[in-house]
Amino acid sequence: MTNHIKIFDTTLRDGEQTPGVNLNVKEKLMIAKKLESLGVDIIEAGFPAASNGDFEAVKTIASEIKKSTVAGLSRANEKDILRCWEAVKYAEKPRIHTFIATSEIHMKHKLKMTKEEIVKRATEMVAYAKTFMDDIEFSAEDALRTEPEFLVEIYEAVIKAGATTLNVPDTVGYRTPTEMFELISYLKKNVKGIDNVDISVHCHNDLGMAVANSLAAVEAGATQVECTINGIGERAGNTSLEEIVMILKTRKDRYSNFETSIDAKQIYSTSRLVSLLTGVQVQPNKAIVGANAFAHESGIHQHGVLANKETYEIISPESVGRNADSLVLGKLSGKHAFVDKLKKLGFGDLEDSKMDQLFGEFKKLADKKKYIVDEDIIALVTGDAAKFEGKVKLESFEITRREGKPKAEVDITIDGDKKTGIAYGDGPVDAAYHAIKELLNDKFELEEYKLDSITGDTDAQAQVVVVIEKDGQRFIGRGQSTDIVEASIIAYINGINRLYKN
Ligand code: KIV
Ligand code: ZN
Repeated sequence: MTNHIKIFDTTLRDGEQTPGVNLNVKEKLMIAKKLESLGVDIIEAGFPAASNGDFEAVKTIASEIKKSTVAGLSRANEKDILRCWEAVKYAEKPRIHTFIATSEIHMKHKLKMTKEEIVKRATEMVAYAKTFMDDIEFSAEDALRTEPEFLVEIYEAVIKAGATTLNVPDTVGYRTPTEMFELISYLKKNVKGIDNVDISVHCHNDLGMAVANSLAAVEAGATQVECTINGIGERAGNTSLEEIVMILKTRKDRYSNFETSIDAKQIYSTSRLVSLLTGVQVQPNKAIVGANAFAHESGIHQHGVLANKETYEIISPESVGRNADSLVLGKLSGKHAFVDKLKKLGFGDLEDSKMDQLFGEFKKLADKKKYIVDEDIIALVTGDAAKFEGKVKLESFEITRREGKPKAEVDITIDGDKKTGIAYGDGPVDAAYHAIKELLNDKFELEEYKLDSITGDTDAQAQVVVVIEKDGQRFIGRGQSTDIVEASIIAYINGINRLYKN
């Protein structure tokens, strides 16, 4: 018998808790659609009670996603649960995911509640959530530092109250795979009714063991794994979706009885999309999706791979959608080839008018760049999501040098009024930023500036991510162009517009 392991993706909730990540509704929806196309079973779309922005994002995603279950997170209180229901109720398959901490340290210092109070609250809130819908997940936060006997008590109680999934989070990434295996086995043996519900595992990577711990949980009988694309998430991140999925797939000799519904060929394009939209770069040596994951450097290895790929390759790059299609687009490519490429990359459900617009942008890019590769096409789609119509708009700019110092002349419109700023700086980007800031005469600060190249060639597109800070709030801006200064100005204005939208 084959066991289906449910993939619960929390890129849009725990992943968004990655320091510095802040996605708008359009960007979140784009990621959600890609996750659906990738085949995830459950998309945790956000934490509706956290902010109006989060609520809107979950509601929008719930209304648009048809195949995957759409979950919202809520603390175990009526206000959060009601808000969560109001956002997820638009989904074909909604889920409320409610949590409360159960470890001694959390109960005593954070919640200041007794065990009895925690069990009562958890059961009452699961029962309350159940009045709205059937699919209820309960998480015992910091479960891996909770007394196992208390976990048995609370899980049994919430099953009786109607929970359909029990999540076992290693909230601080503390445990080892053996300990995880033992705990899941213990729960399976001792919690009455556990065989009628899903057992989920949610691991953090503080000691680099999130994936190993998730795998151990599956071996012990967990039926759902919570994970994120590229392993992003709070602190050191969460279980990486691509790694857990590819372990189960690659090691069929050991895991023949487990399968997921992930379309592995879409893993790489999803990873790129999330990296571009969040601005979180993937480390080069990251398994499956890192730049070096399939690069063979030493002569001995290269010789081996040329003789027989399997000497040093346990997964083919094509199987995760890397270079799966050697067709490179260029300026002579027509709309048909372009749309075909978008479909292969998992963006086939874009509206016709959007396809037309992106094709126009593709043609412009092809005039500047000889070969357009997959990364460029994904960047076109993500660049479109980042566009933020707002108060400030870039009209044109010019960089010159005067007495060795770069001088920027930038034309922008502010609420439709045309203004020209002129300033000097240490470099062209610095000069342009001064010119814009002087026109706005506001007290925000540039906190971070990150420049990255989307592909490796000299005519590559640059991606710039900036963080703008004002009164303790941070706003991310992104921009991309084959011109580094232009990408930098677009990112700066994008961040400024997000600040003024707030
Ligand atoms: O890490 C954690 O415990 C969580 C819960 C809310 C599931 O993210
Ligand atoms: Zn978490």
